[in-house]
Amino acid sequence: MTERTLSIIKPDATRRNLEGKILAKIQDAGLKVVAMKRVRWTKYQAEKFYEVHRERPFYQDLVAFMTSGPIVLMVLEGENAIARYREVMGATNPEEAAEGTIRAEFAENIEANSVHGSDSPENAAKEIAMCFDGAEIVG
Ligand code: CMP
Repeated sequence: MTERTLSIIKPDATRRNLEGKILAKIQDAGLKVVAMKRVRWTKYQAEKFYEVHRERPFYQDLVAFMTSGPIVLMVLEGENAIARYREVMGATNPEEAAEGTIRAEFAENIEANSVHGSDSPENAAKEIAMCFDGAEIVG
């Protein structure tokens, strides 16, 4: 099934100039970039995006981190893109991430973990709509 998922290259990765290396792993996995832009989120945008984590102890730190520098937002398209991209990213905690994954190679810690990817079709649709206008997505 062809799916779309939202990908974010996080501030720890843009700070270290890792966009190209991360993009290579995404494209080598057969995922197609159908939208991409570099932005810096406001506190309000980060709070809204991570609203599901509002009650978690790490929420305020996560919002501060996600607004600490530029990020790259992408829509990825492909066969089973949601699960496929989660495989390419590796586990949230880089210490648990499989060898060769983005997080195993590049993440600094569980918070500054270089990338985000949607975790379900419902969240993918929500997150893509939050970050892109329809006309910015070109398949
Ligand atoms: P992400 O996939 O973007 O989804 C939620 C984010 O919260 C996650 O990646 C991490 O950046 C962060 N996160 C998740 N768990 C923790 C934790 N235990 N401590 C700090 N940050 C976390």
